[in-house]
Amino acid sequence: HMKKYVAPSVLGCDLSNLHSESIDVIQGGCDWLHLDVMDGHFVPNLSFGPPVIKCLRKHLPSAYFDCHLMVTNPEIWVEPMSQAGASRFTFHIETQSSQESLESLLQSIQSHNMHTGIAIKPSSEIPLFIDPVVEKGLVDLILVMTVEPGFGGQKFMESTMEKVRSLREKHQKLNIEVDGGVNSETVLIADQAGANAFVLGTFVFNSPDRKKTLSDLRKSLNI
Ligand code: DX5
Ligand code: ZN
Repeated sequence: HMKKYVAPSVLGCDLSNLHSESIDVIQGGCDWLHLDVMDGHFVPNLSFGPPVIKCLRKHLPSAYFDCHLMVTNPEIWVEPMSQAGASRFTFHIETQSSQESLESLLQSIQSHNMHTGIAIKPSSEIPLFIDPVVEKGLVDLILVMTVEPGFGGQKFMESTMEKVRSLREKHQKLNIEVDGGVNSETVLIADQAGANAFVLGTFVFNSPDRKKTLSDLRKSLNI
């Protein structure tokens, strides 16, 4: 059985209090802190980038920073993100047009001592050139977007579960993460489909008792 991970997305918090909001969910019982980097080009929104993550890293030396880059040119952010203290660098497959570019990006992330992740939008098909790089051990996680990337607070698209199921059938040991519209109900749908990492923004940060919300989530996932 795959180990399961709960990853609150700080996009759902009071970003002017990023440090204390992060501590709140870490103490409440989360596995990863999900950090959404947006460039206003790949997605129609801006969030934060390496300078903010670097400051947060100083306060939280041991937290796992699960970074999701919604950016057009992931290649140029590998070095800055690693300098900022990212634990994982997840980029979008839509930015890659060949197995060669994909492979060299993954290798560059690994050589910068970060875990790799490949994200995929709800409407994108998984390209066949992913399989060989997975077989080579270059991919640690695939992030199946369950909403259109760019904004928190949207509705979970259940149609994306087909992708989760087929990925899990093919790759038993791969981490499969879902992101967008995950709450106490949809988390179970994703779990059933074979996902083992769950990103939650508004559901965790807007809940009146975050500690209880996180511990209820963990109980319902048997973690
Ligand atoms: C969306 C981001 C998500 C977002 C999820 O582009 O990738 O991580 O914060 O927020 P909720 O859980 O509110 O859908
Ligand atoms: Zn995200």
